[in-house]
Amino acid sequence: MTQNDKIAMRMEGITKRFPGVLANDRISLECRKGEVLGLLGENGAGKTTLMNILYGLHQPDSGKIFINGKQVTIESPAKAIELGIGMVHQHFKLVDTLTALENVILGIPSEHPLVLDLAPARKRFLALCEEYDLYVDPSVEVWRLSVGKQQWLEILKALYRDARLLVLDEPSAVLTPAEGEQLFKAIRKLTAEERSVIFISHKFGEVLEITDRITVIRDGHVVGTVPTKEATYPELARMMVGRPVAMDRKSRPLAAKKDPILVMENVEAMSDRGLPALKNINLTLHPGEIVGVAGVDGNGQLELAECIVGMRKRTSGTIRIQGLNVDHVMDDPSFVGYIPADRQKVGLFLALTVAENLIVKDYYKAPFARKSVLRYSAIRQHAKDLIKDYNIKTPSGEVEVANLSGGNQQKVVIARELSDQPAPVVASQATRGLDLGAVESVHNFLLAERERGAAVLFISTELQEVMSLSDRIIVMFRGEVMGEVDGNTADVDTIGQMMLGETAEVSA
Ligand SMILES: Nc1ncnc2c1ncn2[C@@H]1O[C@H](COP(=O)(O)OP(=O)(O)O)[C@@H](O)[C@H]1O
Ligand SMILES: [Mg+2]
Repeated sequence: MTQNDKIAMRMEGITKRFPGVLANDRISLECRKGEVLGLLGENGAGKTTLMNILYGLHQPDSGKIFINGKQVTIESPAKAIELGIGMVHQHFKLVDTLTALENVILGIPSEHPLVLDLAPARKRFLALCEEYDLYVDPSVEVWRLSVGKQQWLEILKALYRDARLLVLDEPSAVLTPAEGEQLFKAIRKLTAEERSVIFISHKFGEVLEITDRITVIRDGHVVGTVPTKEATYPELARMMVGRPVAMDRKSRPLAAKKDPILVMENVEAMSDRGLPALKNINLTLHPGEIVGVAGVDGNGQLELAECIVGMRKRTSGTIRIQGLNVDHVMDDPSFVGYIPADRQKVGLFLALTVAENLIVKDYYKAPFARKSVLRYSAIRQHAKDLIKDYNIKTPSGEVEVANLSGGNQQKVVIARELSDQPAPVVASQATRGLDLGAVESVHNFLLAERERGAAVLFISTELQEVMSLSDRIIVMFRGEVMGEVDGNTADVDTIGQMMLGETAEVSA
């Protein structure tokens, strides 16, 4: 096969204007045979428009489309189907009152239009269900199906028409985690058969899991295409959002709840002065959520963080991280990502270089050390990579970290703590003393962690910041959790009262 034979679909310079919006601005991209191409972009970036053009639902104002190397005009979905393109829309296009099977064969020209013999169709449909392990009862009416099953039916419908290129528009939004797993398996099976899948999403986590390459779209144009193996969360976040745009957390659904990452039960601890600092703390963190900790400074936040990361002994209670007792896992400092409140005393060694600070948790491990000898080439390369990934402004990795601005010092801490992809992340006063640009990038890194499926405990005395980032918020007062509120509906007054020691009336 030559290089060109491997390309299933290529779009060249596609432009599409709606009244007042340039939805697609000279977009070029290609999808290879047997690959999953991720199309990543925020809401409104132009992903659906582009794929609707490919599926013949819109005509581009300009640009070319090639299928298997041949230029084509796709004037209708019927033409797209003929070309082997299938598309599953965000909003399904099934007929509710017909059965699953009737929906599948709807619109397929029959050889004997007067004889509707469902038996062969049913047989073929069930074979597909089995082949891709996506079972849908053929005789059930569509309105009785869960949205997840309706999506599968749309996929089966496309496969029934022998789609060679399947476009899935934000498929996971309507699936349970188990259904999502099944979908991913089916996608892998499709690509093993040299079919291609375009997987549209605005969630980095799943895009990184299922795709081979990722094309990022922002404001209607392609920002870049990266092989998934080389992609990192912060870089994707930057590509997707762009520096001037803040990520809109509230528009993104919270990841489905899976096994908790962190469970604290009845935890008590003393302060440095030997006074009770934590009283009966019960807290559970799930993958893909940011839990904010609000409160006036000195109400147990420091002790809470230190107990979780193993820097402070509890006097009673248990802490489990991913099911393991915290006392047994603390030998591995990469287990928890910790952004401490005092980065200059606890987070960094100011007299060491950026590169050295980036490995202080891992310096004794490969690739940085072999037979207790530090390998400077690996350390330098590691620093180079993280400086790039986390956008640390420094002349080089060999500069002492004391010479960096506060924001860039914090990025060094964040790069070191997050690049190992820890499951729980504890961030304490992570933006204190930083300028606005730096605050925003810290927020974006934490949001990217959430997107990846980490559980983030976000401790801050800045109530606005806690409210803008958190899925849930707990409020601490004198070592106790006064209550919990939903991050989407929290209001300043309720939280403010709890910060002063009033118990919440309704606790989530
Ligand atoms: N049929 C349409 N008419 C007018 N504007 C549209 C239409 N479809 C999409 N748009 C606009 O085009 C832009 C891109 O939308 P869309 O392709 O749906 O983005 P995405 O799928 O990435 O969320 C948005 O500004 C949207 O409002
Ligand atoms: Mg869309």
